[in-house]
Amino acid sequence: MSLVYVFNNYGGPETEALIDRDAPVPGPDEIGLEVRAAGVNPADWKFREGQLGRGFAVPVPMGQEVSGVVTAVGAAVEGFKVGDEVFGVPAPGRGGFAEHTTMRAIEALAKPAGISFTDAATIPVAATAAYDLTHVVDLDAGSSVLILGAGGGVGYMAAQICAVHQFRTVTVASEAKRELLEATGASFVPSGVGVPDAVRELFPEGVDLVIDLVGGQALRDVAGLAVSPDRVVSAPDPDTAAALGGTGRSTDSESMEKITDVIAYELVDPHVTATFPLDRVREALAAVETGHAAGKIVVIP
Ligand SMILES: NC(=O)c1ccc[n+]([C@@H]2O[C@H](COP(=O)([O-])OP(=O)(O)OC[C@H]3O[C@@H](n4cnc5c(N)ncnc54)[C@H](OP(=O)(O)O)[C@@H]3O)[C@@H](O)[C@H]2O)c1
Repeated sequence: MSLVYVFNNYGGPETEALIDRDAPVPGPDEIGLEVRAAGVNPADWKFREGQLGRGFAVPVPMGQEVSGVVTAVGAAVEGFKVGDEVFGVPAPGRGGFAEHTTMRAIEALAKPAGISFTDAATIPVAATAAYDLTHVVDLDAGSSVLILGAGGGVGYMAAQICAVHQFRTVTVASEAKRELLEATGASFVPSGVGVPDAVRELFPEGVDLVIDLVGGQALRDVAGLAVSPDRVVSAPDPDTAAALGGTGRSTDSESMEKITDVIAYELVDPHVTATFPLDRVREALAAVETGHAAGKIVVIP
């Protein structure tokens, strides 16, 4: 038997439960793994609420980025063997908050020895999104970037990527995150009504890229600070971004590998601020569901 954290109905956190069932068996193009760590993301509760579709029959396993050790290899899989250390997104219908899961081999990467299982479990969703958002246009060193929601899982890694590229970055977050963000070399503006004026004071000519991790009105308030409408990219709210002339996040098959190298070189730190065991996933999810998490929260089975 094998523990897995699920939701039993599309809805609120009261539908979540830790259940025991047979370990999942990998399909022909999948690998099975013993989970070592799984990153927590806003997508976990959005999925539970049905905001991202209701395509899977309940109970639905939760957790969308994972690292672990290969325990079984599907018949059609090449390039992985039992005992390999890997990370990636669980196969459709599987979850990361579990003792065991499966991944499509084509979506798995070998974990570099220098990256811990805990940090590796932040790469498939959060770090890869940070990479994509910061590379949506080619910007030269010295370019200006605004990051809205900069102290969370994606935003803090995006701020560090901007520092690697020597961008002039202004980060917007709650006051509690000032020290963390200023340590990346970025300017800091506290979130709230004064954001547009404060950013205009720093960059009167506008910013070369607005990276949004909040959406809605907060995005509308800052979108006009971009040098042109198409220099706005949003991970959580592509519809509002598009309505303003910007775009949503897009990715390609190489992003995860590229950001993994950057993390392996210790140029970006995923900044895991808390870890929780499987029997406390509800708390881990609740912390992220507040919408005000700092860095990454990771589940360690
Ligand atoms: N489309 C995709 O592929 C994709 C991929 C990854 C993430 N996302 C989405 O992108 C969003 C961010 O993800 P995440 O993992 O970084 O979430 P997170 O860890 O919860 O971080 C969000 C951050 O936004 C800050 N924030 C909230 N309201 C704000 C406001 N009005 N102004 C400025 N900052 C504010 C929060 O803390 P403070 O308020 O304390 O500063 C928090 O640090 C989520 O909605 C997620 O679902 C989408």
